Amino acid sequence: MAKSHTFLIFTNFLIAYLFILGCARDVPTNSYNTLGHGDATPIGSNFTFLCDPKRASDLVKQMTLSEKVLQLGNTNRGVPRLGLPKYEWWSEALHGVSNVGPGTFFDDLVPSSTSFPTVITSAASFNESLWKTIGQAVSTEARAMYNLGRAGLTYWSPNINVDVEGTEDFKDLNSRPLKVSSCCKHYAAYDVDNWKSIVRESYDARVAEQDMVETFLRPFEMCIKEGDVSSIMCSYNRVNGIPTCADPKLLNQTIRRDWDLHGPQYTSLGKKDICSDEHVELAREAAREGTVLLKNIDQTLPLDANNFKTLAVIGPHANATAAMIGNYAGVPCKIVTPLDALSAYGEVDYKVGCGEMKCRNDSLIFPAMQAAEKADATIIVAGIDLSIEAERGLDISFAKANKKIGAILWVGYPGEKGGLAIADVIFGKYNPGGRLHMLPMTSMPLRPVDSLGYPGRTYKFFNGSTVFPFAYGLSYTKLNYTLKSAMRSTHIKLNKFQHCYGIKYRKESHIPHCPSVRIDDMDCKEKINFQVEVKNAGDRDGSEVVVVYSKPLEGIEATHIKQVIGFQRVFVPAGGSKKVKFVLNVCNSLRVVDYNAYSVLPSGGHTIIIGDDIISFPVHVNFSS
Ligand SMILES: *[C@@H]1O[C@H](CO)[C@@H](O)[C@H](O)[C@H]1NC(C)=O
Ligand SMILES: *[C@@H]1O[C@H](CO)[C@@H](O)[C@H](O)[C@H]1NC(C)=O
Ligand SMILES: *[C@@H]1O[C@H](CO)[C@@H](O)[C@H](O)[C@H]1NC(C)=O
Ligand SMILES: *[C@@H]1O[C@H](CO)[C@@H](O)[C@H](O)[C@H]1NC(C)=O
Ligand SMILES: *[C@@H]1O[C@H](CO)[C@@H](O)[C@H](O)[C@H]1NC(C)=O
Ligand SMILES: *[C@@H]1O[C@H](CO)[C@@H](O)[C@H](O)[C@H]1NC(C)=O
Ligand SMILES: *[C@@H]1O[C@H](CO)[C@@H](O)[C@H](O)[C@H]1NC(C)=O
Repeated sequence: MAKSHTFLIFTNFLIAYLFILGCARDVPTNSYNTLGHGDATPIGSNFTFLCDPKRASDLVKQMTLSEKVLQLGNTNRGVPRLGLPKYEWWSEALHGVSNVGPGTFFDDLVPSSTSFPTVITSAASFNESLWKTIGQAVSTEARAMYNLGRAGLTYWSPNINVDVEGTEDFKDLNSRPLKVSSCCKHYAAYDVDNWKSIVRESYDARVAEQDMVETFLRPFEMCIKEGDVSSIMCSYNRVNGIPTCADPKLLNQTIRRDWDLHGPQYTSLGKKDICSDEHVELAREAAREGTVLLKNIDQTLPLDANNFKTLAVIGPHANATAAMIGNYAGVPCKIVTPLDALSAYGEVDYKVGCGEMKCRNDSLIFPAMQAAEKADATIIVAGIDLSIEAERGLDISFAKANKKIGAILWVGYPGEKGGLAIADVIFGKYNPGGRLHMLPMTSMPLRPVDSLGYPGRTYKFFNGSTVFPFAYGLSYTKLNYTLKSAMRSTHIKLNKFQHCYGIKYRKESHIPHCPSVRIDDMDCKEKINFQVEVKNAGDRDGSEVVVVYSKPLEGIEATHIKQVIGFQRVFVPAGGSKKVKFVLNVCNSLRVVDYNAYSVLPSGGHTIIIGDDIISFPVHVNFSS
């Protein structure tokens, strides 16, 4: 029987520790919280959202200076003489309720909570509905823990980095409100840390206003305007000389608007809602959906359990436990290691191969080689972990090029049921459909700087070769698209208050007579509609991520190459097809940010690209007065 070699990679990116709470307007009245294990929340205390600005301001006026100072930072001491309760603001829930912050703890009453895959893994699913479902499940467990006096109500999650280009990710949360208060962090331009001489606390990020508006602020804008966050946490760094936590422009002008926390009562949640079967199964599903198949020569995968009865399972991550849940974790309900899960499919010969992640010592290699020689298939589970992790990825070009490695799966930090997900994918119980989304972060500027030989970064600006491109990911089946219908132009009539705005074009370009209109001046009601049919021509069910990009018209100076404007993950049964409909906002989808950091809608012929240039079509923007 032919030997097949499989290679699994874990990797991760930076999720930083936190320190300062930016601002949160909706203070839970009548709520007490944990300030230490013996000093906990009155069980089932009444959390209401009676945020009365007049009352709040009156309360602040009655406080002495030292009383005010005691309310700064995350551990608020309260003011007993005014009936203001103490409160611990710091709890974490990036991928499950975590005990990293002092506001939350585990003990005999609540020993664990569901540990979902970390965000790098669930983001690779490109499935908005999955993210919302996980968010709901985490908030249910968090609220249940609060009711039991074991957790706070304010969670310093989600964490935003610019490599995942969201589009409408935050939309629609209001229809399924979270049961706790969430907080987007770290605001803003907090992308480089612990890299060369950069330390986040002293780093002064020099950021062009154009990059600020276009890339660093946009996700926070979406978090606040479209999402359900009730607070924003400022970052540690300075931006152009000003500490973000002391920048009135960033904190007061830019974000203190349109905030809205929805707060129904959830007093019935309790122990039964933590680590429920439903949540644990969701953790497994999320890990499967976030798995990315990067290489699969001659359909090495999936393995047929009838033909591959003996498995050599090699590598320091094969029996991973803590490494699976990454950082910002809590105490998981029950971890299933890759080794445990693979053992259900065949006779496993486990050899660690390397004593630690860096594999500096090859004394353990020989037994691993012997095991591989005897087995029907060899599965290497390797990569990095928190001991050597930073936000940088791992160069796996050697594995891509090596013909003996038949297949590569990327799984990130897949959470407590990651082992099951890996086995499900290897043995074809689940057909992978995740896509890569990470790009290295080594410097603040986004755009290439020719004079410095700086190539730019992210798929939006970097025009060099990559080991695997953004949104790369294979399937066990054959999926293909056809364009069913598309709107090709949009006419926007300008009123007398809306003006044409000049943007920079390269010298020889044709410049339209009304080059653009500033987004702030427009109503932005227009939509682009189109429909794509996804066909599954293979003999396995599968899911496809349809990624849609827009490309600005030729000739505009220093704009992006392309940008993600939408995506949908669809399940398509073997031999079947699914129509996927996109209705995208014209301003959001076709905007560019000019030198002066104005968001503008350029007129002329933009291009919509679907997938890896599989389909593209033009959309013409016309302005008339
Ligand atoms: C909680 O607050 C609601 C309305 O504010 C009130 O009707 C209810 O009696 C309170 N419950 C407790 C246990 O104090
Ligand atoms: C997206 O996630 C949801 C879970 O919320 C799941 O039910 C659905 O099957 C997923 N979609 C695809 C295409 O994988
Ligand atoms: C915040 O902005 C408001 C106006 O929007 C202004 O009245 C207030 O003084 C500002 N606060 C600070 C601290 O700058
Ligand atoms: C896997 O690791 C656990 C500890 O995390 C250990 O108890 C167990 O013996 C290991 N399994 C094997 C097969 O080495
Ligand atoms: C290499 O690892 C083996 C097994 O863990 C150990 O016995 C040996 O001392 C190590 N050698 C070095 C040079 O670290
Ligand atoms: C990418 O770089 C190549 C070579 O420098 C150039 O010819 C091409 O126009 C560039 N593409 C874009 C979209 O900037
Ligand atoms: C997918 O469809 C396009 C036309 O829409 C065709 O050119 C291409 O060959 C097809 N690819 C596969 C793998 O079938």
